[in-house]
Amino acid sequence: MLVAPSILSADFGHLADSVKSICDGGCDFVHVDVMDGHFVPNLTIGPVVVESVAKSATKPLDIHLMVQNNSFFVDLFAPLKPKFISFHIEEEKHPHRLIQKIRGLGISPAITLNPHTPPEAIEFLIADVDMVLLMSVNPGFGGQKFIPSVIPKVKRLKAMIEEINPDCLIEIDGGVSDKNIKELAEAGVDVVVAGSFVYKHPKGVESAISALK
Ligand code: DX5
Ligand code: ZN
Repeated sequence: MLVAPSILSADFGHLADSVKSICDGGCDFVHVDVMDGHFVPNLTIGPVVVESVAKSATKPLDIHLMVQNNSFFVDLFAPLKPKFISFHIEEEKHPHRLIQKIRGLGISPAITLNPHTPPEAIEFLIADVDMVLLMSVNPGFGGQKFIPSVIPKVKRLKAMIEEINPDCLIEIDGGVSDKNIKELAEAGVDVVVAGSFVYKHPKGVESAISALK
């Protein structure tokens, strides 16, 4: 299992140390939640702060956009050379064009689906992306309860991916812990995002990451 801790649950007063700790602790990607206060009812960080995150990170960035006007935000974050930029299908009129733009910038494009969005909504985009991110909570906040209907959704998406683009990864975001990781792995998840489980683990971030792996 690949693990992408979400820095949304990090101590922003000691951000560099929080980023270093997950990289030293064996994470695979650093998950960065970008919220604009419009697409979701919360506001997080922009390119100035994420530039500092990138400087402290020894693992690739996985930028999760939860914004309106995706293309504008792709331009803001592209200079930081993230591994992935994912955007929400619910907020994009021209997803195929945006995917081409992200790939043209040398970044792996990924699409995110909210809990209500069926995998069929992206059937004709799966061939063109490197990862699909399924939300297992409503986007906007860390520390929410896992929505179990994502499990059958992973299985349906996995069958579609095997047929259309077997290299495409499935990532899950929200409410992930050692309690549901086995079921997620069995359903076909490749990458888990975990915020509160990693940063609030009583034995520290390294133990949390190895428990998920
Ligand atoms: C929610 C974010 C998540 C969040 C996960 O909108 O996309 O990445 O930080 O936090 P936990 O793991 O605490 O649910
Ligand atoms: Zn996220």
